[in-house]
Amino acid sequence: MTRVRPYYADQSLSAAFYDVVTAADAQLTGDIALYAGLGPAGGSVLELGAGAGRVAIALAERGFRVTGVDLSAAMLVRARARQAAASAEIAERLEFRQGDMTSLDLKRTFDLAICTYFTLAHVPAGAAWRNTFAVMARHLDAGGITAVHLPLVEAMRLPGPPPEALAFDRPLPGGGRLQLHVRERRFREAIGRLDQVIEYVERDAAGGVVRRSPERLTYYVADPTPFAAAAGLEAAQTPVRLGDVGEIWVFRKA
Ligand SMILES: C[S@@+](CC[C@H](N)C(=O)[O-])C[C@H]1O[C@@H](n2cnc3c(N)ncnc32)[C@H](O)[C@@H]1O
Repeated sequence: MTRVRPYYADQSLSAAFYDVVTAADAQLTGDIALYAGLGPAGGSVLELGAGAGRVAIALAERGFRVTGVDLSAAMLVRARARQAAASAEIAERLEFRQGDMTSLDLKRTFDLAICTYFTLAHVPAGAAWRNTFAVMARHLDAGGITAVHLPLVEAMRLPGPPPEALAFDRPLPGGGRLQLHVRERRFREAIGRLDQVIEYVERDAAGGVVRRSPERLTYYVADPTPFAAAAGLEAAQTPVRLGDVGEIWVFRKA
């Protein structure tokens, strides 16, 4: 039986093709502009779960100084490669570090702390959410802003496509294709947990399978307000809906 890898693990195709999949994701349209609008020009940003640098690098291009933290070595390799390929001016505004957002303590503060594209939903909505909000609050001065992009529970309830259907099918730069199937999808409403197995299939230009990797993606959904309040963060505006599947919550440190 094929081994099911965790998302973003070493050798995972979710890490290898993260940029291909997110570049085609219309549900993310506008997120970077929204984050950029929350910080002062040239300000400092802490991104928890910075992944392959999609947001961090775009914010550095807009003049922000960004520290991106992520647990996944495979994702950080990609972020650092993009940093190395950027101009010296942009590269020096970026720092990527390996770390756990639920326990991080960099012993400094930032103008803005962000947790983008469902990153918080990767950890259970209990102690891990409480600790992550405490981490965000610890890295802000009074009046500092935090933004957290979370999935909508309505979207989690939707049935997935049939397991054999192509959920994603895009050409790859070398002439092949990347195809995704949702092999399993189960939402447990009582505990706000969505379990999915998404199979990544990389094909060559002739249609042959180069690599195949089923990967487990779990999301936890809940109202973040009580977790934010416990960390001394209050709502700064009503959540901003992004596409059909998520919304960005914005809090201010009291
Ligand atoms: C969906 S990706 C988001 C990447 C990037 N922020 C973006 O918007 O494109 C989620 C990231 O969160 C990271 N992650 C999950 N749990 C984490 C934790 N406890 N601490 C740090 N990073 C974590 C994963 O490794 C992954 O890179």
